[in-house]
Amino acid sequence: MRLIKEISQMKDCRKKIKAPQTVGLVPTMGAFHEGHLSLIRKARQQCDKVVVSIFVNRIQFGKGDDYQRYPRNLSEDISLSEKEGVDVVFAPSLEEMYPQDYSTFVQVGGPLSSTLEGASRSGHFKGVATVLIKLFNIVKPDFSYFGEKDYQQVLIVKKVVDELNLDTQIIVLPTIREKDGLALSSRNSYLNKEERKAAVILYKALEKAKLWIEEGERNPFSIVSKIKDLIKKESLAKLDYVAVVNPETLEKVEDIKGEVLALLAVSIGKARLIDNLLLIAGRSYLEKKEKKFSIERSIKKCE
Ligand code: PAJ
Repeated sequence: MRLIKEISQMKDCRKKIKAPQTVGLVPTMGAFHEGHLSLIRKARQQCDKVVVSIFVNRIQFGKGDDYQRYPRNLSEDISLSEKEGVDVVFAPSLEEMYPQDYSTFVQVGGPLSSTLEGASRSGHFKGVATVLIKLFNIVKPDFSYFGEKDYQQVLIVKKVVDELNLDTQIIVLPTIREKDGLALSSRNSYLNKEERKAAVILYKALEKAKLWIEEGERNPFSIVSKIKDLIKKESLAKLDYVAVVNPETLEKVEDIKGEVLALLAVSIGKARLIDNLLLIAGRSYLEKKEKKFSIERSIKKCE
């Protein structure tokens, strides 16, 4: 496995990989957990060469954000990458990516980038889009891997790739969770024991929303208000936003039909955590239950 820190070397390395060989890129900010590793493993399965980028992208952090204390663990990340069969770890310095006089940015317009995370973290998606375009241009990946955990980021990346006519295919993989449902995140390391216990409230709230919809609730405002109540009851948690939206546009829905997405952002101690869950209003809870029983009955019959 190669560790490359310079853009010119990464480009040279890429030039030597010729079609039909394919390149997969997993962009990360490091401090790997199983979520990152799930993306790396999928890339390893699907591509001839796997490049993992590790770069804590300063320009996607706002003024009060956690850029300084964001966990950094390069040597551990390198050895994990090696274990997973990664071909290249690309870990440029801040100066390499953004020299002193750097001044070119990619601004994603429209509601997709101004709502939810975009509203709470001004300039965040401009930073994300800019670094990803740079990485795509440096690595020229055939496939790029992203986690559904950062749902809005995925929609924005897809839009940028589409509108700027880039040639990388975006592969999206499900959120990896702890046993109790907490989505893995590098920021979970900020939580003390008590806060860690409290952090499960994000997933619990989303699961509740799923249950309410299965039981027939079709009013998104009522779901949002019940989630707010739930979060209020957890004294260590401070809600930033909760929304029930159209999964493609992220626009708030007026009623719940077909698929909707619930998202929330909650601060617990020093950690600002986000999570989301796709909810399907279709078959009722009772119908599903009946289906489960009939499957169980047919299994029993086979026995
Ligand atoms: P980072 O937070 O390091 O995440 C890197 C990738 O891992 C992202 O695609 C993210 O969605 C995915 N990921 C994080 N937690 C996950 C989980 N629990 N399950 C599955 N996938 C998970 O996201 C970023 O970095 C940056 O914004 C980046 C895209 C690298 C641009 O700087």
